[in-house]
Amino acid sequence: MDIWKFYGVTHRDHIVMNPTSEAKTDQFIALLPLKPNARVLDVASGKGEQLLRIIDKHDATGVGIDISPYEVKAARQRASVRNLESKVEFVEGDGAKYNVEPNSFDLAMCLGATGVWGGYRGAIEALKKTVKPTGLIVLGEPYKLKEPESGYIEAEPEFAPTLVTHAENVQIAQNAGLKLLYSIVSDHHDWDRYEGLRLRAAELYAEENPTDPDAHEILDRQRGEHDTYLKHGRDTLGWAIYMFRT
Ligand SMILES: C[S@@+](CC[C@H](N)C(=O)[O-])C[C@H]1O[C@@H](n2cnc3c(N)ncnc32)[C@H](O)[C@@H]1O
Repeated sequence: MDIWKFYGVTHRDHIVMNPTSEAKTDQFIALLPLKPNARVLDVASGKGEQLLRIIDKHDATGVGIDISPYEVKAARQRASVRNLESKVEFVEGDGAKYNVEPNSFDLAMCLGATGVWGGYRGAIEALKKTVKPTGLIVLGEPYKLKEPESGYIEAEPEFAPTLVTHAENVQIAQNAGLKLLYSIVSDHHDWDRYEGLRLRAAELYAEENPTDPDAHEILDRQRGEHDTYLKHGRDTLGWAIYMFRT
């Protein structure tokens, strides 16, 4: 199965494809110290919602890059509906390979996809190169609320052992020369909505598309991920969006 189809189906009802509520997203965006005409880069831009809201709120322009054709198509449609096509470009491609002019953006962000550069530290180093001196870097990253149990590590061996705390996420960025301006965290309600929408989407998709040969695989995988969330992730995983100044 095409992995981007899986993510496209399971996120079909999300506007924001991470566990931040829309209200918190708006609060965060309002607090960005951007001047009019700022240039914004969003790597792994998903449906482009955050970038479009930043452009709207701060009279900015932007580029969003995402590897998934499903998300890029959705982002372009959203830009068109809001008449923001002249202010934003959505590019389909690998964020790690996208050729960005160094020091050319006022804000560079990546929400929920630091794996593009092998992890959070790699993302910090990559995004630092793209922003002007005293630019902004915004990162959305999970953190651990407590030590992952062995069952969680067995279920997510590539992910669970790598988790650090909220304070450690901040410290890592500070060690890389960034200054923390603000951060916002998600609570159980936010997480339940994010994960619940994924399960609901997969269940409804399987009901509505019984002849799709991928429907069973999508459903099995999503049910498994939701089960891991209920048993382990819900009590172990946090999520924050960090606003840094270089
Ligand atoms: C959890 S979603 C977050 C999307 C968006 N940033 C948001 O918060 O709504 C992760 C996104 O990363 C994209 N992605 C994954 N690997 C990528 C890569 N190498 N280059 C660009 N985008 C990538 C996926 O297609 C998906 O849209």
